[in-house]
Formats: sequence, structure tokens, C-alpha cells
Amino acid sequence: MQSLPTNYRALVIGSSGAIGSAMVAHLRADPRCGELVGLGRSSTPRLDLEDESTIAAAAAALRASGPWHLVVVATGMLHGPGQMPEKRLAQLRCDDMLRSFAINAVGPAAVLTHFTPLLAREERSLFAVLSAKVGSIGDNRLGGWYSYRAAKAALNMIVKTASIELARTHPRTVLAALHPGTVDSRLSAPFHAAHGKRPASQAAADLLAVLDKLDPAESGSFHAYDGERLPW
Ligand SMILES: NC(=O)c1ccc[n+]([C@@H]2O[C@H](COP(=O)([O-])OP(=O)(O)OC[C@H]3O[C@@H](n4cnc5c(N)ncnc54)[C@H](OP(=O)(O)O)[C@@H]3O)[C@@H](O)[C@H]2O)c1
Repeated sequence: MQSLPTNYRALVIGSSGAIGSAMVAHLRADPRCGELVGLGRSSTPRLDLEDESTIAAAAAALRASGPWHLVVVATGMLHGPGQMPEKRLAQLRCDDMLRSFAINAVGPAAVLTHFTPLLAREERSLFAVLSAKVGSIGDNRLGGWYSYRAAKAALNMIVKTASIELARTHPRTVLAALHPGTVDSRLSAPFHAAHGKRPASQAAADLLAVLDKLDPAESGSFHAYDGERLPW
């Protein structure tokens, strides 16, 4: 990450996932990265997006080793036990929708609450949250996937709103929602991609390159892995 200071400190939340673990591998190979921590439900400290106390405790445990220059939230959920994306309104189940919101929107909002105070203020810092193009209201042409689409749209609004607040205290910080493309992972496994699935390693490299180039004036924007600015 050329735009960050030498020996920058990086945190990847969701480091057990396909894209999260590929991010960790890329950052580990970057000689400019001085410290790298991966967090998730199996890490120490443990971070579970459905339990805010673990998010607060993980942030508290990492505060002293900061400030942090790069935070990537690479978590997300599209399907789970007994839960698949809806094709029709008749398939919508409120409990499933609430779980999708908990993992895809509320949990990342709590991560923003507890981890933005750990960001570097005097130096450039980057905070990226993995969203999805299907969360774009402007781009929705196919319908379906109510819970995931709506939760990612809510996530996008949380990112945009937080960027406005953060610009006041952290003028050198960029906060961005990113779409990784269709990527080979547990999340995408049940679905056939019309144009194939890209390897997570490629997606991670592309996303880090997009982030590296973003200017603070672009904080609060929604970008695809190829740098394209996406409509909300
Ligand atoms: N793959 C695609 O084609 C695609 C397309 C568009 C957007 N995205 C987005 O990209 C992001 C990464 O997806 P991926 O493809 O890498 O999926 P993945 O391999 O399934 O990884 C999902 C990650 O989220 C974590 N997670 C889920 N629930 C959690 C919870 N309650 N607390 C903490 N961590 C939790 C998982 O941790 P565990 O290991 O503990 O389950 C895992 O680390 C997601 O936001 C997804 O919506 C992916």
C-alpha cells in the first residue's frame, strides 16, 4: 500500500473468509506493512458481529498497539443454515431478514463505532467495508434477494453517513464501500455466475489497489474492484 506510511498497521475483520484471508496474504507480502492483525469468530481476541460486546472488547484490546492505518471489514452473509436468498416476496422470512441485517449492516455499523477511534488521524488512513453491487438501489434491475440487497443498501447508507461525521475529525481518512465482483467463496458457492467467478486473491489485490488510490475527497463513496464508481 504505497499511499500509507512505511510500517503501516493493518486490521482485517473477517480474516477467515475467502476475500478476507486473501487480503491478509497480500498485506503480509507487502514489505511496507509493519503490523497485521486478522479478526473474526475464531481469532483472539474474538469478534462476532452478532455480539457487540466482542466488537468493543476487540477494539479495546487493539487500541494500545495503534493507531491503525488500514481497516478492512471483509465479513458478510448471503445464505446460512436453512436460509437462501429470496426469489419472491412470498419466500421472505422476517427472522432470516433480521439475521441478514445483523451480519451485513448492524454488525459492520458497530465495527465502525468501535474501530474508527483507533484510526490514525495525523497520517493517512483507510477504512473499507465490503458491500455488494446488488445493494445498489440505482442498479437493481433483476429484483430478488430482498434480505441481502436491503441489508447491503443499509450498509451503504451507514458508510456514507459515517464518512460525513469522520471527515470532521479525520480529514486524511478515506472510508469506502467496496464491491469485490463475483468471487469464488463459501458465500457464492451455491450460485452459478454467468460470467464466472474470480479468484479471491485477484479480488483482494484489485480492492487494495482501488483503496490505495482513493483521495479523502472521495470518502463515503461506493467503488467496484475495477475502480468504477457505483450508484447508490
Ligand atoms: N463472493 C462474492 O461473489 C461476493 C460478491 C459481492 C460481495 N461480496 C461481499 O464480500 C464480502 C466477503 O465475502 P466472501 O466472498 O469472502 O465470503 P466468505 O468466504 O463466506 O467470508 C465471509 C466472512 O464473514 C465472516 N462472518 C460471517 N458472519 C460473521 C459474524 N457473525 N461475525 C464475524 N464474522 C462473520 C465469516 O467468518 P466465519 O469464518 O466465522 O464464518 C467469514 O470470515 C462479504 O461482505 C460479501 O457480501 C462477495
